[in-house]
Amino acid sequence: MTEPADFSRAVHRLNQEPNSLHLDLAVSHTIVIFGASGDLTRRKLIPALYSLYVKDRLPPETKIVGVARSNFKSDSWRERLTDSTSRFTGERFDRKKWEEFAPRIHYLSADIGRGDDFVKLGKFFEGLENGKSSERVYYLATSPSLYPVAVRQLGEAGLADESSGKRRVVIEKPFGNDFQSSRILNDSVHRVFQERQVYRIDHYLGKETVQNMLVLRFANTIFEPVWNRNYVDHVQITVAEEVTVGSRGEYYDRAGVLRDMFQNHLLQLMMITAMEAPVRFEADLVRDEKVKVLQAVRPMQGLDFASDTVRGQYESYLQEEGVSAESSTATFAALKLWIDNWRWQGVPFYLRSGKGMSCRTTQIVIQFCEPPHMLFDEGGTKSLDANRLVIQVQPAEGIQLQFQTKVPDAELRLRMTDLDFRYAREFSGSMPDAYQRLLLDVLHDDASLFARSDEVEMAWNIIDPIVAAWQSPAAPPLERYPLQMWGPENSTEWMRTQKREWFDVCPVLH
Ligand code: BG6
Repeated sequence: MTEPADFSRAVHRLNQEPNSLHLDLAVSHTIVIFGASGDLTRRKLIPALYSLYVKDRLPPETKIVGVARSNFKSDSWRERLTDSTSRFTGERFDRKKWEEFAPRIHYLSADIGRGDDFVKLGKFFEGLENGKSSERVYYLATSPSLYPVAVRQLGEAGLADESSGKRRVVIEKPFGNDFQSSRILNDSVHRVFQERQVYRIDHYLGKETVQNMLVLRFANTIFEPVWNRNYVDHVQITVAEEVTVGSRGEYYDRAGVLRDMFQNHLLQLMMITAMEAPVRFEADLVRDEKVKVLQAVRPMQGLDFASDTVRGQYESYLQEEGVSAESSTATFAALKLWIDNWRWQGVPFYLRSGKGMSCRTTQIVIQFCEPPHMLFDEGGTKSLDANRLVIQVQPAEGIQLQFQTKVPDAELRLRMTDLDFRYAREFSGSMPDAYQRLLLDVLHDDASLFARSDEVEMAWNIIDPIVAAWQSPAAPPLERYPLQMWGPENSTEWMRTQKREWFDVCPVLH
């Protein structure tokens, strides 16, 4: 069983609590990163661990072991990491602190395919841990095709055995590339680890504003009464990226936007927006509520694929390195999903995401219904913009509540204004990267912000039929769109046919 984690305690853990409160300090902690020579380790994992160290969040006896095939010694690997960490932490990099932290980092060259190498790894960990009881985290940052073999080797070498301390495995996305492969992967993982030991990362859940969504909904009373079909007209969830696929063309061309962004990040945002309050903030109770949302998603069938989905590809996509010249991979998608339960019956959830768009913004818009009776005849239309709650997940983290106001000193003219909460104005310090929070939660044995096996499989169950329909005559047209736009023109048109409009607003970054 996962330790119960009180919600407020979890929320404040990152910034306010000394690490000693929830960790057994007599125990040594070892974080093993497989695939250590890759980009994720340099860009995210080591900078996050270093930042946790600076904030005194890491248990004192924490060691980090990088494992990959490349031939480094611990010293030369540390040297490389000095440069990258200073680059990725920017002005927060403090050389003196880094020099204190760096000796905790070790490197061992090993081949995931070789059982002998895992035996060697086991001996190395034992030496490092000095015979103390130890908690170990195995972080799989390798190519996804190596996940099953890495897990099997850990099992065969006895490294998942918990007789001398807890063992956990962290698995990066993508977790499979469809329902079938995710189930096979879950089966291989469960042959070695129990579900409570498995942490499937979706870094969107580590973003401060995504967690704040839970606080907004469940630590306030005023939103809950209106958070349902009686007051909400529809919900929009947008993850727009200005960047294009860049050097990831080969991977992306196989994945496309549905697998790359929807199966994980967009559905996670939808679950957090739509779920019921869990009875307590415990990993399984939270995840039970999230899974119920996916269970309630109405499966698309027949003509739905053409009428309820939009797909697009940015114009220069076919020229990207690694992309096939005739590729019909979508780099933009918009979906209309229905959640068939008491709270959300009849309220469409519009999800969209794309690369090469106008700006980088992730936002959740709760669009409330129009007032039932219009007293104020604005320009003869008798229709006004209705209230809107905009949750800016990134990059201008904050929340705006939009409402109508009387323009002063005019007859009876109205204007939309807002109550505007910004993290940057309200709290000092920079927003921690999602990986800090997630790594800390793994150390604290709290899986609330990680995907459970049934959640991942169910998410694929929603996405797989759309992927299949897009390769069939049931597909909507694939429209090319110029860079720096809000996706294809079709998407705007489609929303008009829904008698609604996308909230196409780039965040104000100050
Ligand atoms: C990743 C996708 O999971 O998320 C990328 O593979 C995408 O294609 C990235 O760019 C977006 O993450 P963030 O945190 O920059 O919004």
